Amino acid sequence: MPNFTAADLVELFRQELELCKVTQGEELVILSEPSSRSEYVEAAFAAGQQLGARVLQATLPGGSPVPLPSSRTGSGAGLTSLDDSPLALSLLQGADMVLDLTNEGFIHTESLGKILGAGTRMLFVADPPEVLARNLPTPEDKALVKAGAALLKSGGELRVTSKSGTELVADLVDSHPGFQCGIADDPGRWDHWPSTMVLAWPKTSQGRIVIASGDILLPFKTYVRDEIVLTIEGGRIMDVSGGGDARLLQIFFDDADDEEARFLSHMGWGLMTRADWFAMALYDRESLMGMDARGLAGNFLFSTGPHPFMDRHTYNHLDIPMRGCTVEVDGRAVVDAGRLIEL
Ligand SMILES: [Fe+2]
Repeated sequence: MPNFTAADLVELFRQELELCKVTQGEELVILSEPSSRSEYVEAAFAAGQQLGARVLQATLPGGSPVPLPSSRTGSGAGLTSLDDSPLALSLLQGADMVLDLTNEGFIHTESLGKILGAGTRMLFVADPPEVLARNLPTPEDKALVKAGAALLKSGGELRVTSKSGTELVADLVDSHPGFQCGIADDPGRWDHWPSTMVLAWPKTSQGRIVIASGDILLPFKTYVRDEIVLTIEGGRIMDVSGGGDARLLQIFFDDADDEEARFLSHMGWGLMTRADWFAMALYDRESLMGMDARGLAGNFLFSTGPHPFMDRHTYNHLDIPMRGCTVEVDGRAVVDAGRLIEL
């Protein structure tokens, strides 16, 4: 953790909690597991107190039964210990805000809905300090992603093309557009620091996705070396072809032995202007979530597996951010050859 002192971390978390509108007298719960970054727990605790919040720290047993490594994958079930603890759940439901410092977060879990449904806002934080600091959100980010989500909501068709040969059309009708902006400041809102992206959950799509060399496969946290061609029909991956990386994906789908894994999940584009595509190459894999890749401004991020609005709940979830794509909503470009267009 070079150049980040304890005081730096307290200041960093104070700025973030201010963005999340943590105020005097609010109930703030810092949620962790035994292997969470203890320096984050301490810094967040101090930052919350500086803002006048009533701070309480809860540590739950770690562990998760997912088929993938459960540390910072973005695919996991979160801590199953929460599912088994009505006491912990009621604590989180009673908080104004939960700062989630567990390694995997609760993004795809049923517990999350119960917590947010009680009006608690929740912010997930798992990346290294330099990644957090570089991508500290601004209040303006929220307006930008909301504009993108509104465009998706009013749109009928998302079209993605690339020089490499991507030609995908996704149906935006009833696709539940949403966003992440790194700020959880509304009651019942979940967000992730760092993340700035717009996304939708198309129920169907067709065409071809060509994952080019230099694109990224998550949660494997690897850079693609040779092209992968996915043939999509009815929102399902019908064929995977290409070289060695295509073989890797074929093996992933074969090993998963899970029909739900072969469907497309959320898709959208990144707006995180200070993201670093090479962060993943510079850190130990378990130490970072890879949000630089997921949120990079002008990427096209698509994913496979779970689809909560079509009752698909598999944990076989890939996030695949791609560079150099053109993304259009009903013919209006929001990303042009990998360059973000401000709405
Ligand atoms: Fe995802």
